[in-house]
Amino acid sequence: MSKFNLSKTQEETINKLLAQMTIEEKVGQMHQLSPSIVGGFDVSFEELIEMVTDGRISNEEFGKIMASAERDFHEDDIRAGKVGSYLLNDPKKANELQRIAVEESRLGIPLIYGFDVIHGFRTTFPIPLAEACTWNEKVFEASAEIAAREASAHGIHWTFAPMLDIARDARWGRISESAGEDPYLGSVYARAKVRGFQGADPSDREHIAATLKHFAAYGAVESGQDYNTVSMANSMLHNGYLPPFQAAVEEGALTVMAAFNDYNGIPCTVNSYLLRKVLKDTYGFGGFVVSDANAIRECVSHGIAEDLADASRKAADAGMDMDMGSGAYHGHLAQQAADGEVSEEVLDEAVRRILTVKMALGLFEHPYVEEERMAKYDGALDAIHLGTAFDAAKRSIVLLKNDGILPLKKTQTVALAGALADDGENCLGAWNADGRGSDCITVKAGLERAGVSVTYAACCDTESEFRPAELAEAAKNADVIVAVVGETNAMSGEAASRADITLPGHQRELLKAALATGKPVVAVLMNGRPLALQWEQEHIPAIVESWQLGITHGDAVAAVLLGDYNPSGKLCATFPAVTGQCPRCYNHPNTGRPGSKSKFTSRYLDAPLEPLYPFGYGLSYSEFLYSDLIIYENADVFQVSVTITNTGSLTGEETAQLYLRDVTASIVRPVKELKAFRKVTLAPGEAQKITLIVKKCDMGFYNDDMEYCLEDGRFIFYVGGNSRDCLQAERYVHFL
Ligand code: GLC
Repeated sequence: MSKFNLSKTQEETINKLLAQMTIEEKVGQMHQLSPSIVGGFDVSFEELIEMVTDGRISNEEFGKIMASAERDFHEDDIRAGKVGSYLLNDPKKANELQRIAVEESRLGIPLIYGFDVIHGFRTTFPIPLAEACTWNEKVFEASAEIAAREASAHGIHWTFAPMLDIARDARWGRISESAGEDPYLGSVYARAKVRGFQGADPSDREHIAATLKHFAAYGAVESGQDYNTVSMANSMLHNGYLPPFQAAVEEGALTVMAAFNDYNGIPCTVNSYLLRKVLKDTYGFGGFVVSDANAIRECVSHGIAEDLADASRKAADAGMDMDMGSGAYHGHLAQQAADGEVSEEVLDEAVRRILTVKMALGLFEHPYVEEERMAKYDGALDAIHLGTAFDAAKRSIVLLKNDGILPLKKTQTVALAGALADDGENCLGAWNADGRGSDCITVKAGLERAGVSVTYAACCDTESEFRPAELAEAAKNADVIVAVVGETNAMSGEAASRADITLPGHQRELLKAALATGKPVVAVLMNGRPLALQWEQEHIPAIVESWQLGITHGDAVAAVLLGDYNPSGKLCATFPAVTGQCPRCYNHPNTGRPGSKSKFTSRYLDAPLEPLYPFGYGLSYSEFLYSDLIIYENADVFQVSVTITNTGSLTGEETAQLYLRDVTASIVRPVKELKAFRKVTLAPGEAQKITLIVKKCDMGFYNDDMEYCLEDGRFIFYVGGNSRDCLQAERYVHFL
């Protein structure tokens, strides 16, 4: 078990508590209480979830019940030591319940409060898919640190983030919560997020426990359909999906959340290969594993458990330490341990892990949130937090196309079209914790705050018919049309897979009408996933990907449109040309018949071979020329240098990317794998030689038996500003 720098005294306290605890009290620590509904609705939260899942009640009815019902916090269970944690964002209630746990229960073990603080708490940052396009670990860490500072003031000890799922299928709504398709970039992101959320000392009351989720391979759900089954070779899991988790465990992450899906037929919730062999034994993970919401109960639906009792036993034996909201452990585990169906050692291990995390968070020393901190971020937004969010937001924007009409001049009059342009709520993205749409700077507000003369017309939203007269009126005296199109928050995130990822509704009609005016047209996208934009790429002169950037969305978009910020974002996920190309990623095997124009190769009859925008792609108002690729080798590393010249007229930031291909190996390897990247800022005409390093020990791969293999052979080195357009050189590598 990797220690979290607990002192000897702290370790002894845990040992003493364990020795004193009854079986019921041990199970209590393993039980996270979901909100239970009382007062007129005699169903538990879990049953309510089942009712809305199988359609017995609508989402609206579910929302009404949740809003109007009084939560039952089971205070007597806390007194009896039968509750260890809550999913809770309510500082006053948190202190109230904590007082019962600490002062009225037999052993006084504090509760741990978890909540989904995914991309900001009160100051909402860009969605993770957007932020990952900054390729900037300082940005990754800073947003997590600020989220932790704001959430801890609100009595939250633990966030269910970062989501580290590698996502290669844009139909899957939760790609919005991910850092995209690449394990190397995902690992850089993972480490930075753990540092940001947990800090150097997670017990300092300004930081919170991180959760590595969803373990594992949730992003590979079949047909991009949320909660669907996952099958893949173990080698693909270890090479393509787990590196961010391993990196984050090494960084000291305190908790992990198991995924809803099965992995090769065994639900992750009861999968001892994943939870014990890989995570705890091989990675040495020393914190605790929590199930996803109600996931232990869902093992019955999976068909791996006969009933809740069977699910309880299987989850505990597989290494699931805490049950989020299913009630399985609460209802069955104590008896199962008493009857010897589940060894008490299983409980002891789980409880030791949970107490270790509570100790590492300092909850035994300071279980309460200070009154004076509770409302610290409820009022005016913190200026430093806002500034950091703005920096992250503008860096997250990716310029996909520009035939020269960008940047705009402030003297140009803009006809601004699209309901999303004046919609603060849909700047937030999925999972916005305490974020408020009313705080968000819309694109309309951003342009107006930048001093641009704007005539606005909604014209259509993501569902309504397009109203041409509104556009005609707004565009009459305008120099340029800026059309803001895309998705609402609800069209991505959890339970929001789309089988057609073109622009929803009639938004393309808006774009066509804008083109028909004969005026220059800029499309600004607000969306939570890569979209299929083949028509837009062919017809719209400028396309800006602005995602859902959170609280400073409009200011960031205005800064880019007006050239106050030269766009530097690089895609962390591939954009397919059409939905039918999904799933799509750059790091795919070559196959025996790599796609080409000839018929009998890996291709489509009715769609292009290549994706629309590749991984790592992003334009700038500058132009960057790559030259002089030189490779140096010593015993341990390859030093790959290249000269980059800014041939444009504006200073700009470029992210140089280094990819490798292991040409021949004992299993087929991807045609490219990202191994390093470096940012460089160049003035017009400036050239700089940069060097990227690849350690030889990182040039291997895992086989199906999780053995790491370094095999001599030919390697191709690629360097460029995206995964497609690269300089390349081949070397024969002999590993000592
Ligand atoms: C959800 C999500 C998970 C989240 C949890 C608690 O179903 O899958 O990511 O952290 O429940 O809200």
